[in-house]
Amino acid sequence: MFSERRDVLHSWCVQAEWNAPTVTGGAGAFFWDERGRRYLDMSSLAECVTLGHQHPAVVGAIRDQAERLCFVTAAWGAEPRARLAERLLDKSGFAGGRVFFTLGGADANEHAVKIARQASGKPRGWVVGRDRSYHGATYATMAFSRDARTQHLVDPAEWRAVHVPAPYAYRCPFGSGSDDECAERAARCVGATIGERGADAVAAVLMEPNAGTNGIVPPERYWPLLREETRRRGVLLIADEVMSAFGRCGEWFAWQRHGEAGRPDIMTLAKGLTGAHVPLGAVVLSRDVASRLENEMLPTGLTYCGHPLGCAAGVAALQAYEDEGLIERSRVLGGGMRAMLRDVQERVPAIGDVRGGHGLFAVVELVKDRTTREPVAPWPQVHPSLRTFLERGREAGVSFAVQGNLVILAPPLVIGEADLMDALGLMERLLTELSWP
Ligand SMILES: Cc1ncc(COP(=O)(O)O)c(C=O)c1O
Repeated sequence: MFSERRDVLHSWCVQAEWNAPTVTGGAGAFFWDERGRRYLDMSSLAECVTLGHQHPAVVGAIRDQAERLCFVTAAWGAEPRARLAERLLDKSGFAGGRVFFTLGGADANEHAVKIARQASGKPRGWVVGRDRSYHGATYATMAFSRDARTQHLVDPAEWRAVHVPAPYAYRCPFGSGSDDECAERAARCVGATIGERGADAVAAVLMEPNAGTNGIVPPERYWPLLREETRRRGVLLIADEVMSAFGRCGEWFAWQRHGEAGRPDIMTLAKGLTGAHVPLGAVVLSRDVASRLENEMLPTGLTYCGHPLGCAAGVAALQAYEDEGLIERSRVLGGGMRAMLRDVQERVPAIGDVRGGHGLFAVVELVKDRTTREPVAPWPQVHPSLRTFLERGREAGVSFAVQGNLVILAPPLVIGEADLMDALGLMERLLTELSWP
């Protein structure tokens, strides 16, 4: 008899502790297991099922493409690839740019850095990242990230990566007294770091503009200031939009909240690009970056880059976001979620901070004491009561996600408003019942 628990090596967990039900189906914001138990998905699984489970138009597009043509390499053209590139350039306003397709988020970031180094003529240029960032789990992306779970596995300097303190206003590493001050000091620190190495030696700054796995949502002023710092020094800015794009933060791409003042030179995508129906990532290049590559050999590519099934799913996914008004919907529901979370925070002493809510992405940070802001467990440990929170949520039919001392709320953009409010009510009840010794 087959057994996932016995035979499969699972990511991001202790194998002996893995014990999850088998998911057999899903629709919209719900999925269900082999025993027929239904769960409201409050994290879009890995913040990727943005369109909901089994979106009929995306499933249909994959089926049609599979019947027509499953595969063709990058040496040949493929219609869905060209169509998806055109749509992405259009939605992002990167007119005259180009799109490089990848298999997911990590390789999109790794390729973005390769491309930035080539385009800037700094083949061994440094990459500036930040603390508590996550860009993927390949060796290079572990080096570009600063993630407590993996930072002991890699020496960033070997990958020409350097990190700056995070714009984490609730615990500002610069000791700032306000969001604006924290944003300003964190952005200036990036500028100073480029200055120390010399702008000629730095190829790119790689940052998440809004939502990130490690739960930091930078203060509003941060991204435009960062853009200013990088532009002034002639260093390319790469926006890792793997999690934050496609409505998650209330815009097609999170940087768009800042208008042209937030436009990066390169942006990376995955997750919501196909709503996770099939794996696909992308690196979107500005016209300027693309033009610098026009007459040079691009020494990279993976067999399945730009796979037609993924690209067909992407075209259908973008159409669905548009047809169903999901970007706008996420902005409205996200605002409602933020307002409700602020109320919940008043009543639940363990909630130290609530951030996000530009779209359907919010972070609830749990502390032992609001005055000292001591986390319920040292980062990135998960407090036993938070494990109980996850179990009780499941028993009540809601799948929540936690990261360290954070509850990450990122439901599919199609979630019903009443379901969303019920789940937040359940979260409040569970967090109130639990203790944090
Ligand atoms: C911001 C960000 N970048 C990159 C990645 C890596 O993407 P993937 O898991 O598709 O390699 C993730 C995944 O969670 C992410 O959240």
